Amino acid sequence: MTLAEMVACVDARVRPLLVRLLPARWVVAFYSWARQVALHWLVASTPASMLAPPPSVGRVLWGLRFRAPLFNAAGMFKTGEGYELAYRQGAGAYLAGTTTALPRMGNIRRGIALPFVPYPHSAAASNWLGLPNPGHRAVAARIATFPRYEDFPIGVSVALDPGMDTTEALERLLEGLWLYRDAGVDFFELNESCPNTGDDTAGFDALAERLRVITERFVRPSGAPVLIKVGADANPAMIAELVALAGSLGFGGITIGNTSTDYQRHRLGLASPDRRVFDYFVRTFGGGISGEPLRADVLERVVVARTAAASLPSEFHIVATGGIASSQHLADVLAAGATLAQWYTGYFERFARDGHELYRTVLTPLVKPDPLPRGYGG
Ligand SMILES: Cc1cc2nc3c(=O)[nH]c(=O)nc-3n(C[C@H](O)[C@H](O)[C@H](O)COP(=O)(O)O)c2cc1C
Repeated sequence: MTLAEMVACVDARVRPLLVRLLPARWVVAFYSWARQVALHWLVASTPASMLAPPPSVGRVLWGLRFRAPLFNAAGMFKTGEGYELAYRQGAGAYLAGTTTALPRMGNIRRGIALPFVPYPHSAAASNWLGLPNPGHRAVAARIATFPRYEDFPIGVSVALDPGMDTTEALERLLEGLWLYRDAGVDFFELNESCPNTGDDTAGFDALAERLRVITERFVRPSGAPVLIKVGADANPAMIAELVALAGSLGFGGITIGNTSTDYQRHRLGLASPDRRVFDYFVRTFGGGISGEPLRADVLERVVVARTAAASLPSEFHIVATGGIASSQHLADVLAAGATLAQWYTGYFERFARDGHELYRTVLTPLVKPDPLPRGYGG
């Protein structure tokens, strides 16, 4: 057992007690710090063996072969760390970022940097990180040094710089996309959905206009698949409209979804021992909710997107993200029409139980038994 596995396993046992008993501010302060330390240990830890996914779960999208349909969601490896770890654990791909053009320190309030808290009785979490990252250029330079592995595409999540003049932000985003393309990135995810930067993306028309510019200046000339990531709260009618538009412009797909800010509704779904800390977090930071509370919403929106994508002339995929923590959850989103899936909160839950075997545990039940040999049976 590696140090990261041991710490995750111990933490999973004490976490419910800490969240139930300690003052809410202490819990948030501790886990905001502990999340960063744990991530550091995780990426420094090496699985004892290479855990390649079963070959039959692989798939080809946009001419790229993914050796499995599941990989990390954006925000887990913000600085381009964890590439070897993801490969050795058996992920289907690797996703870096979200990055912006300018480096960002992320949010700090009431003496707590990068606020984060888990809700252990509800398989959920809240964060108000505010897109901390070292910038497109730094992460692209790191990715350019990665060794390449077969059937293991590299993706990157990018966002407009919050607070920057819109025209300049778009120019810098395009610059970043090309830096990544030159660094060997295979697919892209445009984060149009972060609830933690204080920047309200100014509506569908502005988004549509941005997408047209990105099509002209990146999607068409590069030929690279670009996904658009929306929130798990996104209005289903808007998703249908966005799929039609993005598909007609040549985007590669849609990722559904980012964290939720529907606090009132999700509060009711949380287990009661988690509500005290949840109330403190929302009151103090706001932030986005992740994990199990998103699952049903994501599933519903995947169906909407799939239906809207059915009439598109070009290849367009749905990537499900939100509340995936088991083989059954993964099977459900794939059956609903997603072609790929990502996990974040569920990844850490699973890691506490299965350690570096987590992808194997989730992917193995998806393997269909071999059909009976020809001529076998009556
Ligand atoms: C601590 C944390 C940081 C995140 N950072 C990002 C980010 O930088 N970019 C992004 O698109 N999503 C980010 N997300 C959202 C996740 O990518 C994912 O969409 C969301 O957590 C729902 O998936 P889950 O239920 O599997 O956690 C973050 C989530 C968490 C919990």
